Amino acid sequence: MRRAIYPGSFDPVTNGHLDVIERAAKLFDEVIVAVAVNDQKRSLFTADERTALIAGAVGGWKNVRVSWFDGLLVEFAAAQQASAVVRGLRAVSDFEFEFQMALMNRKLDEHIETIFLMPAEKYTYLSSRIVKEIARLGGNVDAFVPASVVAALREKLAAPAV
Ligand code: PNS
Repeated sequence: MRRAIYPGSFDPVTNGHLDVIERAAKLFDEVIVAVAVNDQKRSLFTADERTALIAGAVGGWKNVRVSWFDGLLVEFAAAQQASAVVRGLRAVSDFEFEFQMALMNRKLDEHIETIFLMPAEKYTYLSSRIVKEIARLGGNVDAFVPASVVAALREKLAAPAV
């Protein structure tokens, strides 16, 4: 059983993430999309909301599961008996951080390989941060995220900040 973890903040999941998940699901027997719970990073959506939004978008894909983790990614990967971590690479600007993370993860656990997948070109400019900014400023994000995320953004951004 070749199992891979696709970790990320997914705040929120975009069509670019879904493109990477679809590619990974063709390469591995099972892909676990893992939402990182990080107290240091302020997210718009809670971990439960981020997990549910991904689960709704990948519902039809038989070999994709959604989960969340806190703590070290390599520990979560080992606990799930995964042999690989999948990350998307959009542009050269992603490379430095991804390279550092991949090598550090290898230092922490040499059994886990990082595999980089490139999303379709049309998603290379897409990021959760930009989607949130456009939505916050009233722009249309229909082309960038699943319909459920469009609705969730609308609801979240309409709610008064607490
Ligand atoms: O979507 P993101 O924010 O680029 O994802 C980054 C993420 C969550 C994959 C990374 O920050 C991570 O793995 N966090 C878990 C904590 C950890 O293992 N840190 C050491 C990584 S070298």
